[in-house]
Amino acid sequence: MTRASPAASSTLDRVLVLEMVRVTEAAAIAASELIGRGDEKAADHVAVEAMRAALNQLPMDGTVVIGEGERDEAPMLYIGEKVGSAQGSGPKIDIALDPLEGTTITANGGPNALAVLAIAEEGGLLNAPDTYMQKLAIGPGYPDGTIDLARSPSDNIRAIAKAKGVAPNEIIACVLGRPRHAEMIAELRSLGCGIKLIPDGDVAGVIAVTDPETGIDVYMGSGGAPEGVLAAAALRCAGGQIQGRLLFRNDDEIARARRWGIDDLDRIYSLEDMAKGDCIFAATGVTDGSLLAGVHRRKNCLTTESIVMRASTGTVRRISAEHRRGCS
Ligand code: FBP
Repeated sequence: MTRASPAASSTLDRVLVLEMVRVTEAAAIAASELIGRGDEKAADHVAVEAMRAALNQLPMDGTVVIGEGERDEAPMLYIGEKVGSAQGSGPKIDIALDPLEGTTITANGGPNALAVLAIAEEGGLLNAPDTYMQKLAIGPGYPDGTIDLARSPSDNIRAIAKAKGVAPNEIIACVLGRPRHAEMIAELRSLGCGIKLIPDGDVAGVIAVTDPETGIDVYMGSGGAPEGVLAAAALRCAGGQIQGRLLFRNDDEIARARRWGIDDLDRIYSLEDMAKGDCIFAATGVTDGSLLAGVHRRKNCLTTESIVMRASTGTVRRISAEHRRGCS
């Protein structure tokens, strides 16, 4: 697919591109104190606090549209919370965030935990409920329509292989290692596909399809719907295709979706349905991973690695930073 190149938005000021990195850096540095300490909740909590404080320093009228949960279940960065220091006067910006994507990974000292953020103009990001989402994603360079969630995993693999000009058994799929994926994994293996099983962190899993160095051709399987929207924002900037379909485990989740105005429960969302117009995606590594190095602690400083991308320009910046310990 040719990368979407929406008109540059003056609302998403160029200055905000780099400011977003300060926000994800703050969350990643806070969470890094708890890498390998076995406490998922504490790691998430410090990342949330740090991200919220950094967001509140930015001159914008921001609204969290994907956050830590609904107002009654999350004291900070809940959906609908207003953030930014220019409420009523600054640019109106919608924010999807995950201060710590990979809480278990962080607690266990595993790979690929990230602090993640996407921003768009008001209305630019899907208000996804906190349910599961079935996801299917490929990187840039494929014709539109190569993937279709309505088709079986095998049919999608065949279509990707045909478009890539290889046999299906040369396709590598990235899949979250979960019992619910056993049937799909068996189906892919019967085609001879290689499968990279990841323990957690499907935002990084989806983004991996955009980087030929990872060898991953396709991301498949279900994970969090909020993470699906964040991944869609990343692909809007980096190129690629993604489709998602919400999955509901009970009536409460269906009621949640209806509260967000979702009537067609079987709808297949395209990339543009999840992230439209100009948007900015930023992430900082918490632990080392395929996308980014994690936070490293030296005697007098901390180092971070971040990526920040903008849809309208297609610019992808990688930012390595040294932060003096004890300074903010
Ligand atoms: P958390 O950081 O909230 O723990 O999410 C990690 C994650 O692996 C996501 O990347 C993924 O979308 C989701 O959990 C999958 O959910 P589950 O662990 O219930 O299969």
